[in-house]
Amino acid sequence: MTVNAVLNSFADPPEPRPRGTGSDRMVRIIQASFAPVELRADEMAEHFYAVLFSLVPSARDLFPVNMQKQRTRLFRALVQLVEAADRPEELTPYLRRLGRDHRKFGVRQEHFRAFGVALRAAVRTYTTVEWTDEVEQAWTQAYEVVARIMQEGVADDSLPAWWTAEVVSHQRRDWDTAIIRVRPESQIPYLAGQFVSVESPRRPRLWRYLSPANAPREDGTVDFHVRVVAGGWVSRALVRQTVPGDRWRVGAPMGELWRDRDVQRDLVLIAGGTGVAPLHAVVEDLAGRATQPSSVTLFFGGPTADALYFLPELRELAADLPWLKLVPVTEDGSVDDGERGKLPEVVTALGGAWSGHDVLVAGSPGMIRATVSRLLVEGTSYDQISYDSFITEGRI
Ligand SMILES: Cc1cc2nc3c(=O)[nH]c(=O)nc-3n(C[C@H](O)[C@H](O)[C@H](O)COP(=O)(O)OP(=O)(O)OC[C@H]3O[C@@H](n4cnc5c(N)ncnc54)[C@H](O)[C@@H]3O)c2cc1C
Ligand code: HEM
Repeated sequence: MTVNAVLNSFADPPEPRPRGTGSDRMVRIIQASFAPVELRADEMAEHFYAVLFSLVPSARDLFPVNMQKQRTRLFRALVQLVEAADRPEELTPYLRRLGRDHRKFGVRQEHFRAFGVALRAAVRTYTTVEWTDEVEQAWTQAYEVVARIMQEGVADDSLPAWWTAEVVSHQRRDWDTAIIRVRPESQIPYLAGQFVSVESPRRPRLWRYLSPANAPREDGTVDFHVRVVAGGWVSRALVRQTVPGDRWRVGAPMGELWRDRDVQRDLVLIAGGTGVAPLHAVVEDLAGRATQPSSVTLFFGGPTADALYFLPELRELAADLPWLKLVPVTEDGSVDDGERGKLPEVVTALGGAWSGHDVLVAGSPGMIRATVSRLLVEGTSYDQISYDSFITEGRI
């Protein structure tokens, strides 16, 4: 799960915590000191990095050369996680994996201490709230909880920090979309539906999440579907500049889209754009099992027929798999045997709340939000629905 998914999952905590406990107070203090200056996160982030790099100059080499865009993203995520530090039991699996994933940056234990000092220095400099000992303590304690759990993940060296993978093919589907196949030096132990972060030599030290589009194969090759995001630094380079022979680094698998699910339960898969990649991997994974659910419905949606770049492959798959029903969805109705409309409306018009099904959603953050809200209104329970998304970025 990514930060957003973790934090979203706190929207309805199973057991309300008693008011007035120490950790409640700690979080209230943190929120009260951060809220008034949240709009100045850019400046705070700049201050944070200045302090960090003065304390440990070697840390500068871990970050991209041009940090304009990166700055606020990491800083905001850091503050969000620190604000959630009163729920360590819920955050632990995510933070451990984030820590393990951080090994690819070359993060060392001493960096963590400096990170905490820099975080406090940044907030303290900009907050309008009086910086008392209690405020200092609240930030220190919360950061320590988060950092300790992440460090446990860093110490988990049972897996490589990253895998090197060579691009073996790069197939342009249209001006903005490519399917890129890589061959890792050794098998990456991902599960269908998970995602990994990748770094291309075209954009050193800029890691981005991509979702393997196939279930794990014997030869270890992995397909990624990449679509250009307007103004995007990495997606453009991956689609327009990548050539066979490029050597990528691939980080630890993450994500809970299909983890711990009963593989016999009927499924609804809802894909917008490149969100079809992890859902295709799930279908392939099911196809390779001894038994399958009796029904799997895959919705693949986009504005026009051109956006459904993977439809031919899905049609072939559906022709082979009797339990798979494919529903192409376009806003302009330009696929003859498809549905016309937006995904959330079409999905609920055809199946209502989809009771008795698990529902997996993958696509842009906006598409996920719209689809999940619509399903909840229709009566689908939150437990039925799975998705991965992120506050500042997402799939396309
Ligand atoms: C769990 C997960 C899985 C993902 N899987 C895939 C995948 O399989 N294929 C794929 O192509 N991408 C995928 N992404 C998105 C990918 O990680 C990048 O965010 C995306 O490629 C943009 O990176 P960039 O460097 O080009 O853009 P940036 O330079 O980071 O951003 C440029 C601008 O675009 C905005 N932006 C960034 N991402 C998006 C977006 N997705 N939609 C709309 N605006 C955006 C930014 O806010 C910024 O203003 C996934 C993201 C997540 C969180
Ligand atoms: C409690 C401590 C920390 C938390 C909560 C944290 C969290 C995060 C998060 C959420 C991201 C964004 C990942 C993404 O792109 O999705 C990130 C990226 C990154 N982190 Fe950390 N991190 C912590 C400590 C550190 C430390 C100690 C270092 C080493 C100096 C570090 C170096 C990096 C680098 C280099 C990146 C990628 C560059 C970037 O996106 O700006 N992190 N971190």
